[in-house]
Amino acid sequence: MKKLSLVVALIGACVLVPAAQAQEPIVIKFSHVVAMDTPKGKAAEFFKKLAEERTQGRVKVEVYHNSALYKDREEMEALQLGAVQMLAPSLAKFGPLGVKEFEVFDIPYILDGYEALHKVTEGPVGAKLLALLEPKGIIGLGYWDNGFKIMSANKPIKTPNDMRGMKVRIQSSRVLDAQMRALKAMPQVMAFSEVYQALQTGVVDGTENPPSNMFTQKMHEVQKHATLTNHGYLGYAVIVNKKFWEGLPKDIRGILEQAMKETNAYNNEIAKKDNDDALAGIRASGRTEIHTPTDAERKAWIDALKPVHKEVESRVGKEIIQDFYKATGQ
Ligand code: LMR
Repeated sequence: MKKLSLVVALIGACVLVPAAQAQEPIVIKFSHVVAMDTPKGKAAEFFKKLAEERTQGRVKVEVYHNSALYKDREEMEALQLGAVQMLAPSLAKFGPLGVKEFEVFDIPYILDGYEALHKVTEGPVGAKLLALLEPKGIIGLGYWDNGFKIMSANKPIKTPNDMRGMKVRIQSSRVLDAQMRALKAMPQVMAFSEVYQALQTGVVDGTENPPSNMFTQKMHEVQKHATLTNHGYLGYAVIVNKKFWEGLPKDIRGILEQAMKETNAYNNEIAKKDNDDALAGIRASGRTEIHTPTDAERKAWIDALKPVHKEVESRVGKEIIQDFYKATGQ
């Protein structure tokens, strides 16, 4: 009798274990470096909600904001190793992966607003760039907007001449390096999570950011001046580990793809307002004096930075730069 109940128990266990395993949710770790109250932070939460609701808990999305899990370079490695499944790194951070073409987005004055940006990101040029990620074991699921960058420092920086000799934090993009050198500044690559302290302690003198990043990292508390140069764009590609994504059950992947499509739209709807609000927040704080360039000053910035287009051609690729010109009608 005892033997029989043991056999029954064992059979029961064999039946139960796979069933229990099948109920374990699929976990998507989503790591990023900015605050929750940014377009990217909000979009990550939006995706989590849609994904978890629509898969009825079969998928769990763990969002790690503010470099809580990994810093810039580490998170790229973690994605390739499968330690995280989803990221939305800035387009300036794809160079170390060997996809230098993404640095086209960093070329100063190559995009003159969100309309031009969407002609690229929502068209064939954007798709062509995302396809370059596949041989690296990565799939691009779309673009998330952030905003146009402003220069900041602890002294007034009205014209390019004011940047001379300044130590300036940049993201890990060679195009941004060339951009700062064109201004005779000294660029320093640094992880995003370290910038506030570097500005506070004077390790660097200034930086460039969309207002949303500047405000949510409180950089305006350690930068007395900012100029609305809008000289370059900062935004993201949402990427997943290819092996993980293609290994998902088909129905789940379909739901997640749809959720991501809606998240892309949501992010790109809120990004501009978010940046406008952040700029208003910086102004209201009274900590940073905001300068709007005059027409002559704006021309001086453009004249100083336009040569970078030619200079970075051999790094980024002439073809992709031409693709941008054509798509935006430049
Ligand atoms: C930066 O490092 O300045 C940005 O890429 C941070 C971000 O993700 O917006």
